[in-house]
Amino acid sequence: MNETTVFKPCDLVIFGALGDLSRRKLLISLYRLEKANLLEADTRIIGIDRHEGDNSGFIEIIHESLQEFLNEIIDEKIWARFSTRLAYLKIDLTQMDQYPLLNALIDGQSRVMVNYFAVAPSLFTNICQGLSKCGVLNEESRMVMEKPIGHDLKSSKDINDAVAEVFNEKQVYRIDHYLGKETVLNLLALRFANAIFTTNWDHNTIDHVQITVAEEVGIEGRWDYFDKTGQLRDMLQNHLLQILTFVAMEPPVNLEAQSIRDEKIKVLAALRPITKENVELKTVRGLYSAGEINGKPVPGYLEEVGANTESTTESFVALKVAIDNWRWAGVPFYLRTGKRMSYKRTEIVIKFKRLPHNIFKESFEDLPSNKLIIHLQPNEGIEIQMLNKIPGIDENIKLQKTKLDLSFSDTFKNSKIFGGYEKLVLEAMRGNPTLFLSREEIEQAWAWIDSIQDAWAHADVAPKPYPAGTWGPEAADELIARDERVWEE
Ligand code: BG6
Repeated sequence: MNETTVFKPCDLVIFGALGDLSRRKLLISLYRLEKANLLEADTRIIGIDRHEGDNSGFIEIIHESLQEFLNEIIDEKIWARFSTRLAYLKIDLTQMDQYPLLNALIDGQSRVMVNYFAVAPSLFTNICQGLSKCGVLNEESRMVMEKPIGHDLKSSKDINDAVAEVFNEKQVYRIDHYLGKETVLNLLALRFANAIFTTNWDHNTIDHVQITVAEEVGIEGRWDYFDKTGQLRDMLQNHLLQILTFVAMEPPVNLEAQSIRDEKIKVLAALRPITKENVELKTVRGLYSAGEINGKPVPGYLEEVGANTESTTESFVALKVAIDNWRWAGVPFYLRTGKRMSYKRTEIVIKFKRLPHNIFKESFEDLPSNKLIIHLQPNEGIEIQMLNKIPGIDENIKLQKTKLDLSFSDTFKNSKIFGGYEKLVLEAMRGNPTLFLSREEIEQAWAWIDSIQDAWAHADVAPKPYPAGTWGPEAADELIARDERVWEE
């Protein structure tokens, strides 16, 4: 994971190059990597899509995308260098006879072909077969795929089987962009490089864990996808479960991909299934109604443009999760995620146990427990809430809540914090699979998510409304209040 590692130049082939994911995220990240001098000199980026076009038209579209999504002024000198890497090829991905067009462009001898599938999974089988038939692949070729990898265990197995017919597991890079986020990776350092945490990280010292991924955005024109998917599959099956595995896993023997994956799989396998008998107690589904965000009115889910007004899809989920293993026995993990919440915030709160006896009753009737807050976004950092003596020469010792605050942007002023995609695209080009998901992980996660989805269907659990711009339905507060706890705000 060293940023100066030399790697073989790539032909990065983006299938669906004119689509949303490619224009909003991938090409923006690639430009940023260019700016940081992290792209190998000979690396080329080949965009494939079904629309008519040539290299110069493609270059123009990508320049416009940068103007729209980059959030900074384009450095024209960097752009001039970057644009020479870009090429375009029109292929209708459903037409096998069009794939041989790739042969003239790809040089599998001196370069590695990295195929990025930025298209709907329904096209994955076609692309795999097309690539295989036209003979451009070799042992070094890789494929990178995005979620959704299925919508349940069965469909995810079908996709993985289709891919496995052409690429072996070592060639497959499954992306969860949360694994590229700086603070998620920092969990490894925090937990396994700091003795104060390695020895205080289990049911003896931790009372409970909260993971919140709150989004301000709504459906953003993705009705078709989102309404069939829902927040449980869109966010929890992947991003929140990944964060949970990093918080809960045992120390891996080293930083090799397999060692880390092995530990994550054990956590996923230990998640206690949710059943139709307990689903009402352990889960909350929510759906936003009209409300206000940042002082602006926003429509409810059922009133969004193109909405299916009969929809019963959830835009919010809260869960109480048990991990059935030695370390976490009796320690609940409360997870919540929703669209159109008060503001964007992703954080992990580790709430430590209260001390057995309070000798500071003058200050606090009940001594507050320590809290470790890991901020993932928008501002990366770590905060520890502790109690301190208020300085002074009073006869009595008076305590006050204080915090140790480590903001990454203040502490690491000279280090650029990249977004998840930059890190992951770079690692895929370098051939480092550590931050990507194995087939087993994905399938294990689906098996557990299916238990919730089935329980909801059996118990006919309808989503509860919450006004946009709030922290979800009241039932989410009740879920945690039943255990005499509260969500940390
Ligand atoms: C994507 C989901 O995986 O993650 C989106 O499909 C969601 O619905 C997005 O908005 C959130 O990502 P981030 O990085 O903004 O937290």
